[in-house]
Amino acid sequence: MPILLDADPAKAAALLTVLPAGTHLVDTQDRLFNWLGHRGDEYAVVLGPSLSVAEAMETADRLRTAMPTASVVMVRDTVDTEVLTKAMHAGVREVVTASDLVQVNAALQRAHALWAALRGSTSAPARLGRVITIFSPKGGVGKTTMSVNLGIALMNGGENRVCVVDLDLAFGDIAITLQLFPTHSIEHAIGGEDSMDYTFVEELMTPHESGLMVLAAPSQPDARERVTGALVTRLLQTLQSHFDYVVLDTAPAFDEQTLTALDETDDCIIVATLDVPTLKNVKVALETLDVLGVAEGHRHLLLNRADEQVGIGSDKVEGILGMNVAVQVATSLDIAKATNAGRPLMLSSPSHPSSKALKALADTLMGHTAAAQAAPVPAQKGRAPKPSRPEPVPAAEPTDSKPADKRDDGPKRFRISRR
Ligand SMILES: Nc1ncnc2c1ncn2[C@@H]1O[C@H](COP(=O)(O)OP(=O)(O)OP(=O)(O)O)[C@@H](O)[C@H]1O
Ligand SMILES: [Mg+2]
Repeated sequence: MPILLDADPAKAAALLTVLPAGTHLVDTQDRLFNWLGHRGDEYAVVLGPSLSVAEAMETADRLRTAMPTASVVMVRDTVDTEVLTKAMHAGVREVVTASDLVQVNAALQRAHALWAALRGSTSAPARLGRVITIFSPKGGVGKTTMSVNLGIALMNGGENRVCVVDLDLAFGDIAITLQLFPTHSIEHAIGGEDSMDYTFVEELMTPHESGLMVLAAPSQPDARERVTGALVTRLLQTLQSHFDYVVLDTAPAFDEQTLTALDETDDCIIVATLDVPTLKNVKVALETLDVLGVAEGHRHLLLNRADEQVGIGSDKVEGILGMNVAVQVATSLDIAKATNAGRPLMLSSPSHPSSKALKALADTLMGHTAAAQAAPVPAQKGRAPKPSRPEPVPAAEPTDSKPADKRDDGPKRFRISRR
């Protein structure tokens, strides 16, 4: 993805309208080089018009040796021969005027074509991001809320590229939770299993102001049936080649898509609350994950609404489920308000106790990454050899309280329960 260096928010915002979705904005040269320090595969750096000529030249000069495969595109309010000569000497590939947004966009396309050609000849190793799945067999326990907040926490202040995929394909809420209005969704990837690459998937994603990229659920519930397991696998593999973390929000069911996603999962966050039906279903789900060999040793229990005085404490939960509680999030009006305002708590109140708790979980997950990178690369990303999938689990309890038009008891869905 391109990086835009410009300290003027208004000028940066104008340029971002023509730059590819997911362009990363930095406001200082130091931040630019810190970002690049983590990535060897950016294809373009755009030097915005509010940089002084001297600053732009110095940056381009440093980039020439630090990142020779990235094209430097310099955008100026006015271009004269003096600027052009200096730019040429500093290794700038293109100089375009800020008012000519079509040319800015064309310069980026040329930069991408050049980078792709160079990459083809150097066969750079593919990135392999980690897949983090937020799962619970129960509806309404906070999966979506935790997915978006964890996604933002995993960005670690812009250090990591993170996307959230809404795999609650019938009733996904990620877009509305972030107040996004996607023009495309997973539905538009249907049929693309065999010819998918990141350029294609990128077009389907919607950027959030935080930098988080979102692959939204279909707008119509019936599209779910056409999202095959093979498509989910291909999508996740494509996203892993570009993002450091791919966060999956899921439906409260072991449906085909969720089972496939669990197959690809590195870390599974299991969300539970302090009520007996949820705990019972989480217990059943854990046993199913055991049979599947999913993310063994990489499961993290998130106890949401953990402060509620209902006669069950976290110690009892640990006893029932046979695993430690990794993180507790209390019931908080601020969380509900943040959801309703479309601005996740992690952004609106990063120092809120719940934000801190989720940040700590994100830190643990990032620690896993460091350990995994230090260790020899295991086959199947650390998962145990997977026994064949068990037969679908029939509905364990008919607790669905959704309106009839939102319910789905279709034969392919192995729902355990929903609210
Ligand atoms: N700790 C909390 N404190 C207060 N409200 C919360 C908390 N966690 C979640 N909520 C609220 O509960 C509601 C349900 O949360 P969310 O949509 O994240 O659940 P879900 O598990 O994704 O549900 P579904 O299964 O229907 O997709 C939302 O309005 C959310 O703001
Ligand atoms: Mg949800």
